[in-house]
Amino acid sequence: MALTLNVNNTSYTVDVEADTPLLWVLRDTIGLTGTKFGCGIARCGACTVHIDGQAQKSCNTKVSAAVGAKVTTIEGLSNNSTHPVQVAWSEMGVPQCGYCQSGQIMTAAALLSKRPRPTDTEIDEVMVENICRCGTYLRIRQAIHRAAEIGTR
Ligand code: FES
Ligand code: FES
Repeated sequence: MALTLNVNNTSYTVDVEADTPLLWVLRDTIGLTGTKFGCGIARCGACTVHIDGQAQKSCNTKVSAAVGAKVTTIEGLSNNSTHPVQVAWSEMGVPQCGYCQSGQIMTAAALLSKRPRPTDTEIDEVMVENICRCGTYLRIRQAIHRAAEIGTR
């Protein structure tokens, strides 16, 4: 069926089943491959996008649930990677293999939009949703504090 999605402020009409995971539509139909497939069962956070500003796992979100909403992927988070989280990630060299990092960044950006100066505990409570097999957790936490500084200058 034809569904219209707003992704990164662009309108896309896609011909997919209504229960197709949003992740497949973003990656395979629209071609935005920055959002990653990790587990497919809402456990790892690699597929995290924003839906109306909320961090959501796109592997277990039906595409029909995104109709009428504003979907943001890592490609649309900012122009030229200028979001404070992206700047902080780059400054602090957070990624190792990088596979989990778009999801990490999207979760961190959603956190900072609600809590501009989060505590370590608040960071840990939210970021527990995102697994990193390379173990970059300490740098992620430090980079979120750095992004908070950048964002509130
Ligand atoms: S791929 Fe969606 S949470 Fe792992
Ligand atoms: S940087 Fe490799 S999985 Fe997170």
